[in-house]
Amino acid sequence: MTEQRLLHAQWSSRMAFILAASGSAIGLGNIWKFPYLAGQYGGGAFVLVYLLCVVAIGLPIMIAETLLGRRGRQSPINTMLTLAEEAKASPNWHYAGWLGVTAGFLILSYYSVIAGWSMAYIFKVNSALFEHIHAAAATRFFDEFKSSWEFQLIWHTVFMVATMVIVSRGVSGGLERATRYMMPALLAMLVLLDFYGMSSGGFGQGFAFLFNPDFSKLTGEGVLAAMGQAFFSLGLGMGSIMVYGSYLPAHVSIARSSAFVASADTAVALMAGLAIFPIVFANGLEPTMGPGLIFQTLPIAFGQMPAGWLFGMVFFVLVFFAAVTSAIALIEPAVAFLAENLALHRKTACLYAGLACWALGLATAFSFNIWSEVKLFDKTLFELVDFVTANLMLPLGGLLVAVFAAWVMPRATVESELEMGPGPAFGLWHALTRYVAPAGIVIIFLDALGVL
Ligand code: TRP
Repeated sequence: MTEQRLLHAQWSSRMAFILAASGSAIGLGNIWKFPYLAGQYGGGAFVLVYLLCVVAIGLPIMIAETLLGRRGRQSPINTMLTLAEEAKASPNWHYAGWLGVTAGFLILSYYSVIAGWSMAYIFKVNSALFEHIHAAAATRFFDEFKSSWEFQLIWHTVFMVATMVIVSRGVSGGLERATRYMMPALLAMLVLLDFYGMSSGGFGQGFAFLFNPDFSKLTGEGVLAAMGQAFFSLGLGMGSIMVYGSYLPAHVSIARSSAFVASADTAVALMAGLAIFPIVFANGLEPTMGPGLIFQTLPIAFGQMPAGWLFGMVFFVLVFFAAVTSAIALIEPAVAFLAENLALHRKTACLYAGLACWALGLATAFSFNIWSEVKLFDKTLFELVDFVTANLMLPLGGLLVAVFAAWVMPRATVESELEMGPGPAFGLWHALTRYVAPAGIVIIFLDALGVL
């Protein structure tokens, strides 16, 4: 074992890992993206495919990715190099690490713009404008906000700077303690919004929309988006969880920790959906309105609640916090790589990575206004980056992780690392990772291409 690997820091406990992994998993993906995708792709059938992907593809790959991280104990790129060497496989496997670092970087570039929206809303929801606001006004407000390139630039910059300051100080410590309180608080706010939804008059319709599958509405593109969302929401396929796994002490159960994180992540997404769709139907809004969905529905709820301005502020502060803990996970592989391979100080590595990501994010910030006509493959720059990363790069990264863990690494090594006991659990995981997950990903890819 090299000195570097020995010195590599470790989490204080299993709880610390679970908090960090949930911090990575729970973010805009659950609260912003899941509802709008479910709305766009027709509701129940999309949700069902998404849930299937979480269980049969996401969870097994989450376990695999964490396992690779703990065994490699370095940044994703160097971890893949080390593990390939250990398994006497081709060093080309480290390109999987590159794929991940690039994907995380690309995702953060647009994640930051949307996180900027929730920061802006912290300061907006308490204004008189939002008191008893109705649907048309909420939509008009959001459209004006979105179409101002100046606002987009400012909030994207503010979020990026805030994130990089936090990342440059290292991942544990204050953040770990804060996550412990912020996550339950976010959950409590969602419960409040769910209760609001129940009283809004649109609950039955919202519930049916989310859980009554209408398969005639499901397209190949929708299935691909559902799989992409499973990866995105769990934070898989780009080395985030690999990095966190690399800090995980030996003998902590990877399977149980992963199952916990995946359940929490899924619960938060469903709760967000149950909060938002009743508002959509009670106010005669369209579920298909896209990325602005939560920003055009939740202000209506807050505007009608007693002390709604306060709840609204708290809610968007918590969304911002959830976004930061995910943003950290997105950039950490790049920062760890720069620090390890170019022997940069952590702070310098953060500065470079953050600046590049910020610059790239301008493409998204402007795609809602001055560059809204710039289109490639019929998609705006935001839609393009989102599609390529979430729907292609993450599942591909996940596929490589699954193949590496279940086909390339010796079964005995994997079995001793996972310590799942004598029951059928290990066999089940191994079969899912070896056959079900890779086959599922390939089939969904082919289906979306129209080959099937
Ligand atoms: N899972 C986060 C969310 O739902 C975003 C995220 C963090 C992520 N790490 C990731 C997405 C790795 C893809 C890959 O908001």
